[in-house]
Amino acid sequence: MGKKIKKIGVMTSGGDAPGMNAAIRAVVRACSYYNVDCIGVYRGYQGLIDGDFENLSARHVSNIINRGGTILKTARSKEFKTKEGRAKAYQHLKNAKIDALVLIGGDGTFTGGMVFNNEYNFPCIGIPGTIDNDIFGTNYTIGFDTALNTVVEVIDKIRDTASSHNRLFFVEVMGRDAGFIALNAGVGAGAEEILIPEEDMGLDRLLESLKRSKRSGKSSSIVVVAEGDKIGKNVFELANYVEENLKQYEVRVSVLGHMQRGGSPSCFDRVLASRLGVSAVELLLDGKTNLMVGLINNKVQTTDMEKAVKGHHTINRELLRVSDIMSI
Ligand code: F6P
Repeated sequence: MGKKIKKIGVMTSGGDAPGMNAAIRAVVRACSYYNVDCIGVYRGYQGLIDGDFENLSARHVSNIINRGGTILKTARSKEFKTKEGRAKAYQHLKNAKIDALVLIGGDGTFTGGMVFNNEYNFPCIGIPGTIDNDIFGTNYTIGFDTALNTVVEVIDKIRDTASSHNRLFFVEVMGRDAGFIALNAGVGAGAEEILIPEEDMGLDRLLESLKRSKRSGKSSSIVVVAEGDKIGKNVFELANYVEENLKQYEVRVSVLGHMQRGGSPSCFDRVLASRLGVSAVELLLDGKTNLMVGLINNKVQTTDMEKAVKGHHTINRELLRVSDIMSI
């Protein structure tokens, strides 16, 4: 049995995601509910190293459930990857009498937590927060749903101009290593083709598919491309290639970029963040550590942090099939 937890630190790390504030709020309020102190750590692991902390009471997190970004700021810390950096972090945690940490972020965040836990036996629970949805051990990460809605809304607008000019649009969405955003938003926005890192569609098949679209009477089309798609060309090279090989198309490119990470979180993300935040605190108070909380089949469930990092969240291939059928 570990020592009694009296003070919990909470931080956000890695790329921000809409709903991180709702998760912070849930952690702070759950601490307050269980009469445990809560401390916010600014700028992720860098804030741990610098001792950049603030006491957070239930009222400190008023009016943030609807806000995008993270009030605790976020960073990717190189120094935390060093033993010296982690030693400084541990010292600050000890000085501030923090007994445990809730880590909100993605793969990198959990890897840091695992290393830290192994070195100092410091209780850590992870909450998956990233728009990419690429974490094993949860069907949804906080921010994914909001990002999808943002992408679909923007592609709807692109569709208006694409159809007015009879153009083919290549729309690049985020997902350096994962195609969840591209695949789901692509189906939701009615894309002609969806190019993702998990599947090498090949240039020939893309050209063939676009030719078929023209023959079937389509006047405009949208191809959604994930940042890290497998064909290996960036979205501009891809567009040039298609324009050179299919003279009948007038092609345009739109890179959506970081707007996908902003905005007020959807209701789904707020509810998810609230459930996971409460569960993270309860697990720590129950003496648990080195776990990630996630949502599996609409139940809050835990996965070993190591499995969450090493496991692979696979894309839903049924969506690829649906997309193929829809683009007839
Ligand atoms: O949040 C995840 C992610 O959006 C990736 O899809 C993307 O490649 C990356 O972050 C870019 O993040 P940054 O510009 O912060 O390095």
